[in-house]
Amino acid sequence: MLEVTNITKSFDKDGARQVVLSDLSLEIGAREFVCLLGPSGCGKSTLLRIMAGLDQAEAGTVHLDDRLVKEPQPKCAFVFQDYALFPWKTVLENAVYGMDVQGMYDKTTRVEKAREYLKLMHLENYENSYIHELSGGMRQRTAIARSLALEPEILFMDEPFGALDNFTRMELQELLLDIYRKNKLSVVFVTHDISEAIYLGDRVVVMNAHPGTIHSILEINRGLVADRTSEDFHLYEDRIMQAFQLVRKQEIEYYI
Ligand SMILES: Nc1ncnc2c1ncn2[C@@H]1O[C@H](COP(=O)(O)OP(=O)(O)O)[C@@H](O)[C@H]1O
Ligand SMILES: [Mg+2]
Repeated sequence: MLEVTNITKSFDKDGARQVVLSDLSLEIGAREFVCLLGPSGCGKSTLLRIMAGLDQAEAGTVHLDDRLVKEPQPKCAFVFQDYALFPWKTVLENAVYGMDVQGMYDKTTRVEKAREYLKLMHLENYENSYIHELSGGMRQRTAIARSLALEPEILFMDEPFGALDNFTRMELQELLLDIYRKNKLSVVFVTHDISEAIYLGDRVVVMNAHPGTIHSILEINRGLVADRTSEDFHLYEDRIMQAFQLVRKQEIEYYI
């Protein structure tokens, strides 16, 4: 279990200190899918980076299974919006890369694992392709395969489908849910897309900006949202919209 307790983080902006996250606490359960939802600039990426040990908070703590997180943990993997792949390497070489860096397994096992997860991502026929030959969706599937091959307990994803068209995006959401159900992992997923958060999350954490705090947390009944066109899906959307109207109001008050 991941436990974020009383996190505060600020950056220097135009010579002044800007508090980005303020006294924020959150727990992510084992095998839970949590979406962090909020307007651009509210601190979602900052929070995710701190959770993943990629960045440090100035106050507060992050614990993973009772161990203090100060640096990236072997049990965790990260997927970014911009793929972060090597264009001069093939799909297979990219998929092996994360395991290489972490010194996991011997070479044969690394290739086996990479192939296993590329297959899950429907990329088994593309392992010798170069990244520039792939569509955006295929690139992101390569990046996800690379992260899954690490067999993480927690997968951190920062707007991973943000650059994709709607259809590809829905396809990848379904694929991700499939994998989430089959593998024993937790997912912390950052998005500013309300319906994406509802479709994917067990819980949706709605964030406030200036400074970033948690506005509200919505539990999603997966059985009710499997059909994106259902009445229940729209009811969830309405509830989150209402929360955002409050967030927006606070934003406007902040700027005037
Ligand atoms: N490394 C950094 N240095 C300075 N300011 C930063 C840095 N990272 C984020 N910020 C600022 O923190 C705020 C929140 O950023 P971010 O976490 O990226 O928001 P989000 O992911 O919700 O869009 C923004 O105002 C951004 O400019
Ligand atoms: Mg961000």
